[in-house]
Amino acid sequence: MEKFYITTAIDYVNGAPHIGHAYEKILTDVIARHFSQRTDDMFFLTGTDEHGIKIQKTAAANGITPKELCDENAQKFKDAWKALDIDYNKFIRTTDDYHEKAVQKIFNKLLEKGDIYKHSYEGLYCTGCECFLNPKDLTEDGLCPDHLKKPEVIKEENYFFKLSKYKDAIIKHIKENPDFIVPAFRANEVLNQLEDIQDISVSRAKSNVQWGIDVLSDAEQSIYVWIDALSNYITALGYDTEKEPEDFKKYWPADVQVIGKDILKFHSIYWPAFLMALDLPLPKHILAHGWITIDETKMSKSLGNVISPTSVLETFELKEPDAFRYYMATSAPCGRDGNYSDDDFKEKVNAHLANSMGNLLNRTLSMLVKYFDGVVQPKNLSLVDGANELLKKALGTVKIVENHFNHFEVAEAAQEITGLVDTANKFVTDNAPWTLAKEGKIDECAQVLTTVMEVMCIVSAMIYPYCPNIAKNMARQLSFDLSVKLDDLTADNIKVGKLISKEDITPVFLRVDSELADKSAKK
Ligand code: ME8
Ligand code: MG
Repeated sequence: MEKFYITTAIDYVNGAPHIGHAYEKILTDVIARHFSQRTDDMFFLTGTDEHGIKIQKTAAANGITPKELCDENAQKFKDAWKALDIDYNKFIRTTDDYHEKAVQKIFNKLLEKGDIYKHSYEGLYCTGCECFLNPKDLTEDGLCPDHLKKPEVIKEENYFFKLSKYKDAIIKHIKENPDFIVPAFRANEVLNQLEDIQDISVSRAKSNVQWGIDVLSDAEQSIYVWIDALSNYITALGYDTEKEPEDFKKYWPADVQVIGKDILKFHSIYWPAFLMALDLPLPKHILAHGWITIDETKMSKSLGNVISPTSVLETFELKEPDAFRYYMATSAPCGRDGNYSDDDFKEKVNAHLANSMGNLLNRTLSMLVKYFDGVVQPKNLSLVDGANELLKKALGTVKIVENHFNHFEVAEAAQEITGLVDTANKFVTDNAPWTLAKEGKIDECAQVLTTVMEVMCIVSAMIYPYCPNIAKNMARQLSFDLSVKLDDLTADNIKVGKLISKEDITPVFLRVDSELADKSAKK
């Protein structure tokens, strides 16, 4: 694998980040970290979407300028991603100067090409969506189906993009590339939307929307948010209509663009059309993830059930974000909706990370200290029934996990890892090394421990994308080099000789305190 370019949606900064935003960034970070174990050249982009009427209105309501609102909230997103160990390479803000200039040039290029034209228009605008809605997509009561708000009737002279011109090419692309839209079950939805697709407004009258990028050739108009927002994926690499800088040449097209299902239309119809109009190749995959609910209820300000990602860490007094990352990344099968609940969080991470994975390593290292003074004995695995088979299964799991990630099946991959840990736990129970030691079968006992330690090296590599801190702690106690590429992994990582002393054994994950969780439930 040569390079890997991955992006997230850029979040609106009219509020602070919530766990829906966090879900997407965690999912993307897990995918990025996994592919970093398969390539040396990763580029992970995230950022914030800062223009548009929604931000203009929120700023006005707070008595501050849009720029002040953006600066304040963009920082909250950055802080949250730092707390969650989101290891991006670049954070783009659509108010960055270089981005604004590039967007103006992109707009001009499409104008010169004849793909953008001026047209007087009356339509129904939803501020929540930041787009005009098709009357047939409204609810029976005439509301936006996503925001359940009545759209505004807007009559303006706008610039329009000739989306209809690219309709057939996009349909062809989706049909010929069944893995362009992930998961595949969403492709039909997009093909249906394409049936009656119309040209789209790409500017707004400045008399109505001041907070936007100016159309260079027309002082009355500002560039409408989606052409501005979507362009971030290429302007962040330095794209400019006149030149293709190194990063752009190297990384575009994106390997995968991660977004939520609510904005799939923009990414699988508008974005491909803009790219075609610019004569640029399309991204390889668009991954549309599902929606996160709280206790099975849609998150909303009016319900007051919005949870900030860092509040989960605070509630459970977690110093590291690993448990939350693990929970979020495994909260739903690829593309399906997931749910957050305090109780379920506590139960799942205690079971998977503390009881099953952490405890296995802890028990094994403790026995190594107890019976062998922390010294790994010369390898002779065939002394133990099933030892070689277990290692074969562990290496086989690496291939299965890689294959899941090839299809962006992050939760499904994690299930394979926990399955392997369960098998290793069963191997220990079946072979009862403590009994072997008591019976004087000390060589067999040693081989059981070595087998499990080898498995745990492989587990630490596979769990790293989800739980980087836990993985590092595991690898440190096993003297295992976590920087190994997945394809170079072997079942021969544990060196004969002194490995660890009693005082250096630390639990990799402490159970989430049930009292703390109960406290939060009472809040
Ligand atoms: O749509 N569960 O920004 P946004 C899961 N600026 N994902 C969720 C979610 C939830 N409850 N709520 C939001 C925008 N998201 C545009 C994107 S991209 C060029 C421009 C996801 O702040 C949502 O699906 O409304 C989207 O992918 C991302 O968070 C940002 O949403
Ligand atoms: Mg949204």
